[in-house]
Amino acid sequence: MAKTYSIAIDGPAGAGKSTIARRLAEELGYCYVDTGAIYRTVAYFLDLLGVSPKDVDGVRRYIDELTVEIEYDETGAQHMIMNGMDVTKDIRTQEISQKASLVSAHKEVRDMLLDMQRDVARKHNVIMDGRDIGTVVLPKADVKIFLTASSQVRARRRYEELIAKGQKAELPQILKEIEQRDYQDTHREVAPLKKARDAVELDTSDLDIAGVIAAMKKIIGEKIPL
Ligand code: DC
Repeated sequence: MAKTYSIAIDGPAGAGKSTIARRLAEELGYCYVDTGAIYRTVAYFLDLLGVSPKDVDGVRRYIDELTVEIEYDETGAQHMIMNGMDVTKDIRTQEISQKASLVSAHKEVRDMLLDMQRDVARKHNVIMDGRDIGTVVLPKADVKIFLTASSQVRARRRYEELIAKGQKAELPQILKEIEQRDYQDTHREVAPLKKARDAVELDTSDLDIAGVIAAMKKIIGEKIPL
């Protein structure tokens, strides 16, 4: 099989990973894999069954009944398929964000999803974003970038995104939820969010999207042919 390139982007919620990774993937002709969406799908599945994401036995009992697939439509957009049903839109709520963070702490859940993520990277040039891509999923990724921004900046971005979509949002509440997710994602035992030793850290607090893309292309261009 021909060599495939992989770019791992990790960082906390709201650092701009998905917006940036999607655009870069489009420009580079890479496949974009949003791994957060996979954990969200698991959280959504358990939610429908009424299983709390903190219920270790419940998660263990029902996880085998779930199949998760990733599909791409003709525009290249990623769709999440839960037991044959497209749940791409259903998983984008604040409630599922919190539940995904809790569900992702279970080892059984992470183990179940590991191969599927690696498999995409084996077959395609990928830009994959998440929390443990550079550390666990693709430890040999050609490029690793750790995207950060202050929690205030990340909360404001999320707030503006929701307002632009015509949804109701309150900044202090969003900030609280982001900081809670940061805590959960960095303090769990299995594959916690952390910068890989060989990742380049990029703080996007004072950059706009164009600025982040330019900085990322520079980092990527030093490692792989663009
Ligand atoms: O990137 P996101 O906000 O869609 O991710 C939702 C949650 O899923 C996040 O709070 C933690 C978890 N997650 C993870 O544990 N590992 C990943 N590679 C991606 C997401």
